[in-house]
Amino acid sequence: MCRVIAVANQKGGVSKTTTSINLGVALVRLGKRVALVDADPQGHLTLGLGFPKKIRVSLKNMMENIIMGMEFDPMEAVLRHKEGIDVIPSNKMLTGTDLSLITVENREKVLKEYLELLEDNYDYIIIDCMPSLGMLTINALSAADSVLIPVQPQYYAADGLVELLSVVKGIKQRFNPGLEIEGILFTMDSSRYNNSKRNKQAVKMAYGKEMRIFEKSIPRSEAIAETASEGVSIFAYDSRSKGAKSYAELAEEVLNHA
Ligand SMILES: Nc1ncnc2c1ncn2[C@@H]1O[C@H](COP(=O)(O)OP(=O)(O)O)[C@@H](O)[C@H]1O
Ligand SMILES: [Mg+2]
Repeated sequence: MCRVIAVANQKGGVSKTTTSINLGVALVRLGKRVALVDADPQGHLTLGLGFPKKIRVSLKNMMENIIMGMEFDPMEAVLRHKEGIDVIPSNKMLTGTDLSLITVENREKVLKEYLELLEDNYDYIIIDCMPSLGMLTINALSAADSVLIPVQPQYYAADGLVELLSVVKGIKQRFNPGLEIEGILFTMDSSRYNNSKRNKQAVKMAYGKEMRIFEKSIPRSEAIAETASEGVSIFAYDSRSKGAKSYAELAEEVLNHA
């Protein structure tokens, strides 16, 4: 059985892309077959794994094939990364897809229909969402079994979640009754600062009863920040770093949940 996890937060720069890549590779290291879907026209996931901006076949083409009811090979867009993870890439051309979906019938389910064609090939499909709650993110949430929410423990972090959680609730009611919250993950955490502790506490107070908040947070780390320009995960960059350890622990928590 394939589990689809959307990594979402409409705030930019909270480590969605970094978490998608490193959770994905951590799951591969536990023997799972994993695909990453770049659902952000910025293409950061694609670039961050060292693939070029110019892509022959991308997520956009796959979604267009679904919209037009074409017969096609769903694996045609898949790129294989040297760390054993598959990537369905994107670039800025995906911006057009976000907009053109608005007029399509069953527009919330286009990505879901595509991912269903891939499901036999993977244990996990992780969707890296864009920093907005537009049609692509709605498609991701409609296709997902669960949503993982990276949160930076800043002041207002708890406030920022209100809008996202209300969209998740709406999608659950209208399109995807099985949608669960995988959990809230604190990222770029400087836990030695009291400020960070206070802000995490505020999120726990507000949401801890309703949903899982992952035990371990991801530390702010220079090594993690450097991986994107190297086109690799933290495991290839420095497998003994704190960052690698924390993503390995996150993968265990995710596995135990499924
Ligand atoms: N744990 C971390 N420690 C330090 N820098 C990080 C960490 N996680 C992400 N970053 C950096 O922060 C920036 C935003 O991260 P990114 O994953 O692209 O966020 P998002 O996808 O939510 O916009 C990137 O430059 C990334 O390298
Ligand atoms: Mg991103």
